[in-house]
Amino acid sequence: MTPVPLSIRADSLKPSGTLAIAAKAKALARQGVEVLNFSLGEPDFDTPEPIRKAAIDALGSGQTHYLPTLGDAETRAVIADKLTRENGIPGITGDHVAISTGAKHSLYLIAHCLLDPNSTRANEVLLPVPAWVSYAPIIQLAGGKVVQLPTSPAADFKITPGQLKAAITPRSRLLILNSPSNPCGTMYTPDELKAIAAVVAEAAASIAPDLVIVTDEIYEKIVFGGIPHYSIGSTPSVAERTVTINGMSKAFAMTGWRVGYCAAPGEFGARLIKAVDNLQGQMTSCITSFVYPAIRTAIRECGADVERFRHAFAKRARVAHERLMGIPGMVCPTPTGAFYLFPDVSAHFGKKSPAGKTISCGADFAEALLLEAHVATVPGEEFLGCGSRHIRISYACAESQIERGMRQIADFVAKLR
Ligand SMILES: Cc1ncc(COP(=O)(O)O)c(C=O)c1O
Repeated sequence: MTPVPLSIRADSLKPSGTLAIAAKAKALARQGVEVLNFSLGEPDFDTPEPIRKAAIDALGSGQTHYLPTLGDAETRAVIADKLTRENGIPGITGDHVAISTGAKHSLYLIAHCLLDPNSTRANEVLLPVPAWVSYAPIIQLAGGKVVQLPTSPAADFKITPGQLKAAITPRSRLLILNSPSNPCGTMYTPDELKAIAAVVAEAAASIAPDLVIVTDEIYEKIVFGGIPHYSIGSTPSVAERTVTINGMSKAFAMTGWRVGYCAAPGEFGARLIKAVDNLQGQMTSCITSFVYPAIRTAIRECGADVERFRHAFAKRARVAHERLMGIPGMVCPTPTGAFYLFPDVSAHFGKKSPAGKTISCGADFAEALLLEAHVATVPGEEFLGCGSRHIRISYACAESQIERGMRQIADFVAKLR
């Protein structure tokens, strides 16, 4: 009998390689092997107590019913105020903010509100690579065409204004930016972002009138390289064609709460957020209603916790990078933000692991490292571009684990022949 078919869309989705390595790590753990896990994309801290208490109090007082799809007016206003004060984005009110089920959901909604499948309209998405694993699938599910802009470790994984200018065509619809970056661990300077904004503004006035910047600033608070975080949406020439994405997951150690938001100012922003309202209204409705007070508490009261996390990440970044640089053949820029190292391990390609596996790509390196040295990392292939020469190491874990893991990586590398 012919199997009952799934949709072409469902069939086109590939399982994430990150999950595959996580499954192998779990299988090892079940056999009693101690695996040092550097594959996770989440802070290891607990959500600060006042945030948890705000949710518990709201639950206790019966805030358990539906609320407006994009969030209650008070919480949207708190986010609008944050984006105005901290990020300098002009023209944002609560009506320009949509609260969704994680920044990932915000990105999904924005992609569906700005891209059209099989359309004569602009639908190319300029994506600097290596890039976070979900961007390309989100773009493709919405019918967009990914145009990769390659970057390299020598340039701190950053695109140049000239490179961007050369890639823009009349079909360019979105430019995705993610600074600080997952998986690269580096970030753009304010001047670099202003230069990118100038290219977008010029292109929008000439060949690419539909071009919109989508800037994912989820790691904005985890910065430690002396480069201040800059929101490109605060640049006047592109403010009204920039969508800022952010959320609570990374800054406030709230990954499991599933809270993200997007915002865009002015007339375009108001129209876009209304469209997000319509789409989310048919999709998930509001997020869990007793979470809204916790968002307000986090933004208004938990700056000291955010700073505490930032200091811890800064120290871990220093230790992890120093140890990594002591291992022969590792090429990795100094991290300046987020909590990842993304070393080029290609100096070891062509060698054999102690168990006899030939290492010819990042995935081979990550697999042998896991199976033979019991250190879990993510194969760089997942992140596109030059990623197949890399592995991703997340240092969102205790310093003692970083020290042990780096020793185990060093031992593994020393045995490659
Ligand atoms: C660059 C980037 N954007 C967005 C997200 C998703 O965040 P959220 O938990 O808010 O969906 C992640 C999570 O790993 C990320 O690394």
